[in-house]
Amino acid sequence: MAVRFARSAAFIVGCTTTLAAVAQPPAAAPAVAPAPTYRKDVRAILQARCVNCHRKDNVAPFALETYEQARKRAHDLAAVAEARTMPPWKANPRFGPPLKHDPTLSEAEIETLRLWADADSPEGEGADETAAAPAPTQGAWSLGEPDVVLEMLEEFVVPASGSDLYRCFVIPSRLSHDVYISAVEYQPGNRRVVHHLMAFIDLQGNGRERDKAEEGPGYTSYSGAGVPIDGDLGGFAAGNQVVHLPEGVGRLVPRGSDVILQVHYHPTGKREVDRTRIGLHLCRKPVEQSIHWANATNDKLRLPAGDPNVEVKAAWHVPIDVEALGVTPHMHQLGRDFRMTATLPDGTVRELIDVPHWDPAWQSTYYFQDRIPLPKGSTVQVVAHFDNSAHPLNPNSPPKVITWGPAASDEMLVGYIGVVKKGQDLTRSGEKDDLFQILARQYVRKFNRERYARR
Ligand code: HEC
Repeated sequence: MAVRFARSAAFIVGCTTTLAAVAQPPAAAPAVAPAPTYRKDVRAILQARCVNCHRKDNVAPFALETYEQARKRAHDLAAVAEARTMPPWKANPRFGPPLKHDPTLSEAEIETLRLWADADSPEGEGADETAAAPAPTQGAWSLGEPDVVLEMLEEFVVPASGSDLYRCFVIPSRLSHDVYISAVEYQPGNRRVVHHLMAFIDLQGNGRERDKAEEGPGYTSYSGAGVPIDGDLGGFAAGNQVVHLPEGVGRLVPRGSDVILQVHYHPTGKREVDRTRIGLHLCRKPVEQSIHWANATNDKLRLPAGDPNVEVKAAWHVPIDVEALGVTPHMHQLGRDFRMTATLPDGTVRELIDVPHWDPAWQSTYYFQDRIPLPKGSTVQVVAHFDNSAHPLNPNSPPKVITWGPAASDEMLVGYIGVVKKGQDLTRSGEKDDLFQILARQYVRKFNRERYARR
């Protein structure tokens, strides 16, 4: 509907302008297609694409929930839509397979916002403001009440000012048996200060040890859990949609595990208090395949001081037949761009993801619409560039040599890739959920090879 409307409106407007330049329109000119209105056209776009962040007490700096709020900024809305800077979505649409939950505006939606702004943002007729779909409430879980809710054991106080904090909190899962989950939903206790979250599984009590050694609730760690872990639970960044894994795919949370929740806090100028919750949704259908996250990592990276464009590569050699479901690119403050491909044993190159303008504030997991088969012997490659010249995001002024490490002032290059074992059917008796062990053994072998090579 909106598509056809906007296209034809642009066409008619364009024609009338040309005609008007040639000849005076007759006195009783036929009515030009009406400009889009807020109630009929614009509100639906904002609700679908913007309001999940642009609402009260959320990540975006202003709300777009009412006519008045949208009218005031009509030209800004059109401008960011045209520049494709909003909604924030960093994947290059012309590279790689179609992605799930792509929030990118269509050409027609962009045109509607432009025509509306240019027509002086009419409110129009239609359903009353209050009849609009209510914005989701703060407390509600978007996938419904989770089966298991884990909560930070204590409140954490974020001081009014100072630099960003990266804090890990250990939460015992108290699970009495292994479970497979289809989704993890994070509910920040205080969206004003919570920038993003990640969670990890710890079976060894490593997190507890670290926690004991540091004062106050939790401990500080910039990159991940900061201790050896036994699995991960994905993460949350502002605006991320929570999704269920495809039917038949689950993520294992072993009994007795601790969950280590890592929160990135961004001080707001006021003292803030947070107590974040994690909701686990158990798989409803029998689980045939278990997803695990492999990675192409380059921990030998070295970025010379002042160099604006350092290329770094990483690779993962696929040890058995798998299918890829999604990827999570990861770098820190100095990343410029990130591209991931897979070369199959027959030489075919499959594009996976391209993030042409790396933004450390928006780190997402991108799920493919269709699984990508990666036979044994394939290689997943990452080619990324870093900018270690003087710029506002560079943690060092003046720049200095940067190597791998977990702190905000170190760098990382990791291409996580979520895979399942091809043909795995855990409902068959005797079938093992052993992909994590296969991947772990591969990393141990790689580590040993590299260690001996250095001698
Ligand atoms: C995922 C969260 C998110 C979504 C979705 C989102 N925004 Fe934003 N928006 C932000 C944040 C955060 C900022 C503050 C600037 C920044 O951090 O990039 C912002 C800033 C803006 C600005 C100020 C200009 C600027 O660059 O600072 C405009 C205008 C804007 N958004 C419009 C929109 C419109 C229109 C949509 C929907 C089509 C939208 N946003 C969707 C998070 C979001």
